[in-house]
Amino acid sequence: MSSFLERYHQLTKYDPRTIDKLGQAHWENQPKAWKAISGTEYTDIRPHLGFLTELANETTASDYPLSFPHLDLATLCRISWFASGVNAMGGSIQDPHLFRTNPSAGGLYPVELYWIVLDVDGMDSGVWQFHAPGFALVPVWKGDFRGEVANSLLGIQPAREAQAIAVLTGIFSRGSWRYGERAYRRILLDAGHLSGNLLEAARREHFEAVPLSGFCDSGLSDLLFPDQDEVPLLAIPLAKHLSKSVSQSLKSLPPDPTEISAAVEPGAMQMRAHHLSRIGAGNPEPPSPMAWPWRKPDLEYVPLPPHSLPGDLLRAAIDRRSCRSFGWAPVTLEQFSTLLFWSKIPAEEQLSPPGFLDTWIVVNSVLGLESGVWHWDPETDAIALHRPGAFREDCLRMCLGQELGGNASFVIVHTTPLARAVEGLGERAYRPLCMDAGHFGERLNLAAQAMDLGASGIGGYFDDLVNETLGQDLSHAILYISAVGEPG
Ligand SMILES: Cc1cc2nc3c(=O)[nH]c(=O)nc-3n(C[C@H](O)[C@H](O)[C@H](O)COP(=O)(O)O)c2cc1C
Repeated sequence: MSSFLERYHQLTKYDPRTIDKLGQAHWENQPKAWKAISGTEYTDIRPHLGFLTELANETTASDYPLSFPHLDLATLCRISWFASGVNAMGGSIQDPHLFRTNPSAGGLYPVELYWIVLDVDGMDSGVWQFHAPGFALVPVWKGDFRGEVANSLLGIQPAREAQAIAVLTGIFSRGSWRYGERAYRRILLDAGHLSGNLLEAARREHFEAVPLSGFCDSGLSDLLFPDQDEVPLLAIPLAKHLSKSVSQSLKSLPPDPTEISAAVEPGAMQMRAHHLSRIGAGNPEPPSPMAWPWRKPDLEYVPLPPHSLPGDLLRAAIDRRSCRSFGWAPVTLEQFSTLLFWSKIPAEEQLSPPGFLDTWIVVNSVLGLESGVWHWDPETDAIALHRPGAFREDCLRMCLGQELGGNASFVIVHTTPLARAVEGLGERAYRPLCMDAGHFGERLNLAAQAMDLGASGIGGYFDDLVNETLGQDLSHAILYISAVGEPG
């Protein structure tokens, strides 16, 4: 195994024989899910969210504010809230738990949202941080950073055209106190979820946005004043009009072989995995376009029946919650088809090249569809039966015994042949693939919520058992599971 990321994925598998040895989380050490605001200057976003009350009560979208040709403060406030704002409170007054529009593994919220403001009415240019619990945009530092940003984003056209650039960062310690070395996997998935909300909100505002996972890591980091264990994961230029069909650089610097083989201190493996997939400064060679076929050559695909409209995806973010328990009522084939259609990542927002991310669906109870493992071709909206059979028990077992897995009407599993992906794209392949899986998961969450169905991400699973259920060999990395069904 020549790649560090493959090793990382292999060593962070959950295995029924060793899961007990992982130890318990130390709840007394749980870090806060937000940063302290250091200065006194901030912008309250609440005056710009008044429309939410009407939107939540109405069935039409007419109460959404009109969009303007130029990006302004109010628009950034709305997009920030839809991306990751607080939408409910649980726990107690003494110890509240703030729920967000985006789900997060374990509710730990290790992903932060920043804006590099370049040309926004009503805002000083500079770097701002979205402080979700404080309902605030907080200035980090002011100045015109267009040159620095364009360089960090490797001179790519949308970076030059952007009026603002959202940057998502991940903070390792917020996840690792609970999930150890496997936290990085969930951090990338969380970033994908958050980006799904942000991109949907930008679309609703009639702005264009292009997510980029190929950038100079140190350049972008230097702009943000990040915490010691905080790293940029995704940059999303935003403007009224952007060049959208960009071929972004994903290829990371070839890592020094000694870096790959050097011993890693306990707890530092995920950081090493992240840093080994870095891209350096300068304009790299433009990447040669890559794509794999979406379909498996040995399977027979049948088109899904026509889908309907799921409802208003963005409205769903207002009261979105992960489903905590499924009844056994089946979903219909039309609901199934609609959910898949709306969960599809728009082509220009997909970070990984076409065909690198496989979508498998373990069907437990969908009216009119044989139970078993199906493969989905998103390009033509067709599915193929790969392994007929009843797999509820397997789903329960592979999801660490979580009933969500066994009781769901169907379970979606995202996988990739990781060695081949790394061969084609370098170590960097891991980031876009995991974030794409999370992005799909968010679109699925929103569509399910809009259709009064339930959905939940599942980041805890026995990797090899999942491959066994799917009927795949172990060279396929299991990136994410999403469970869907009638809440009950
Ligand atoms: C990447 C990811 C992994 C998750 N894994 C699990 C899981 O294994 N089991 C589970 O019950 N919920 C899981 N969830 C759901 C979270 O627990 C849930 O998002 C969080 O508690 C916040 O609640 P909310 O989604 O209702 O806002 C996961 C969510 C995400 C985004």
